[in-house]
Amino acid sequence: MSATDVTPQGAPRGGVRPVLEVDDVKVHFGGVKAVDGITMQLLPGMIHGIIGPNGSGKSTLIGAITRLTRLTSGRLLFDGEEYQTAPASVVARKRVSRTFQTVRLLPDLTVRENIQLGADARSDDTTGSPISRLIGKRVSPAVAEAIERTELGGFEDFYPSELSYGTQRRVEIARAIATGPRLLLLDEPTAGMNQQERAEISALMRTLRSDGLCQLLVEHDVQMMIDTCDHVYAMNFGRLIAEGDPREVVRSPQVQEAYLGRKWRDHA
Ligand SMILES: Nc1ncnc2c1ncn2[C@@H]1O[C@H](COP(=O)(O)OP(=O)(O)OP(=O)(O)O)[C@@H](O)[C@H]1O
Ligand SMILES: [Mg+2]
Repeated sequence: MSATDVTPQGAPRGGVRPVLEVDDVKVHFGGVKAVDGITMQLLPGMIHGIIGPNGSGKSTLIGAITRLTRLTSGRLLFDGEEYQTAPASVVARKRVSRTFQTVRLLPDLTVRENIQLGADARSDDTTGSPISRLIGKRVSPAVAEAIERTELGGFEDFYPSELSYGTQRRVEIARAIATGPRLLLLDEPTAGMNQQERAEISALMRTLRSDGLCQLLVEHDVQMMIDTCDHVYAMNFGRLIAEGDPREVVRSPQVQEAYLGRKWRDHA
């Protein structure tokens, strides 16, 4: 099988137990087949990517994985355990963390407090509980670490409206990291960022990978995908059209035809 063929349903990759298995998942909205039979396996310590044109179903798939969007059919397995009917709160407790395509920070909370919300979702970390925040600015280790990793030191007491768009996005990533994720899903985290900021996010993801974290990145920036991902899935009209090595996927005729055009070919 060539690197850009779609893996047959349920076939293991490399004998490693996946963190997440998506098995023939469909999400239909009336007649719109937003996700139409996606099968993928996300492995520990790997950065996976999804590319695909606007409206191809990338965000809907992330919604399904996090159980914020109802599946029409198919199975989801985390650590080998099915959870496709579990509520989103249960999925969050499994430490499946995500960022959204549009910034979703709480405007009345500071950077530190927004990130603390992520740490509060951890059952084993109560150092920075809401009460302790009221009686003193005790910062939980998870928050301090997330701030350091995302280089947000100095911004802790700022409110989101006082930050550039790129910095707001970093706060979101910090909040997701503060949950101590087992699986991190990033939906276009670098939208609105400049080249330098994108490179920083890519470097951060690679550091998290070296700690063994399983990640899924949705991104339109081909260079970022090539620089960051180990394995890329290409979607079109809710279906997988290619998967494998990022450079090969980007160059594959089906992806070129579906989506990318000359601009991507030149980059690849
Ligand atoms: N709640 C919904 N109700 C009806 N249709 C929806 C809903 N959410 C998404 N869709 C449709 O599903 C399809 C896939 O949308 P989705 O947002 O998943 O695409 P995407 O690949 O993330 O696109 P983009 O690159 O623009 O973010 C689109 O046709 C969209 O209009
Ligand atoms: Mg999207």
